[in-house]
Amino acid sequence: MVTGHVFIATSLDGFIARENGDIDWLLKHDQAGEDHGYDDFIGDIDVIVMGRGTYEAVRSMGQWFYTRPVLVLSAQLAQQEVPSELKGKVRFLDKSPGKAMAMLASEGARRAYVDGGRIIQSFLELDMISDMVITRVPILLGSGRPLFGADPRDVALAHKGTRSFPSGLVQSHYEVVK
Ligand SMILES: NC(=O)c1ccc[n+]([C@@H]2O[C@H](COP(=O)([O-])OP(=O)(O)OC[C@H]3O[C@@H](n4cnc5c(N)ncnc54)[C@H](OP(=O)(O)O)[C@@H]3O)[C@@H](O)[C@H]2O)c1
Repeated sequence: MVTGHVFIATSLDGFIARENGDIDWLLKHDQAGEDHGYDDFIGDIDVIVMGRGTYEAVRSMGQWFYTRPVLVLSAQLAQQEVPSELKGKVRFLDKSPGKAMAMLASEGARRAYVDGGRIIQSFLELDMISDMVITRVPILLGSGRPLFGADPRDVALAHKGTRSFPSGLVQSHYEVVK
């Protein structure tokens, strides 16, 4: 079985990007040279599963910084070839979260980093997220792309810890109660 894990930053009002996808507000705060635990987190991850929105945002930055294989879930991209410079690093797949995780399990993966707002919402609704590290940036955006959606169920969380950084970032770790 593959477990899903979230490591993401939001504005204090819960947005992961502006409406147009911009994360300038996040990059500004990420320049303080603080260790927010990403390297430790990614060290225990076998594969990254992201949505098309996140893939396209990363591609627009012009640099591929992932050190793990990436699976992009997308009906649109699955019709296209993976760009030659990303062959062997990225795959496009038009499958449900359940089928994607089953495929990854059959390949021997254990822990997947799930990234992208809409993708995380889908995985949460399907009970496929084990835990979430959410770093809140001290800014109110007022509008944008939300981390969480309108899941009709309550999702109970166990708070595992919170730490704050001199930059003002506040990071909390939650396990999803099954
Ligand atoms: N703050 C942070 O830490 C952080 C982290 C990650 C991303 N971001 C930002 O967030 C934005 C991207 O997030 P997003 O919420 O807009 O998009 P997303 O979740 O990355 O991608 C959504 C797209 O994935 C595809 N998809 C395939 N299967 C899906 C499923 N089961 N559920 C939902 N979508 C599925 C759909 O595209 P198709 O129509 O092609 O199928 C859908 O439009 C970017 O601006 C990025 O920079 C911020």
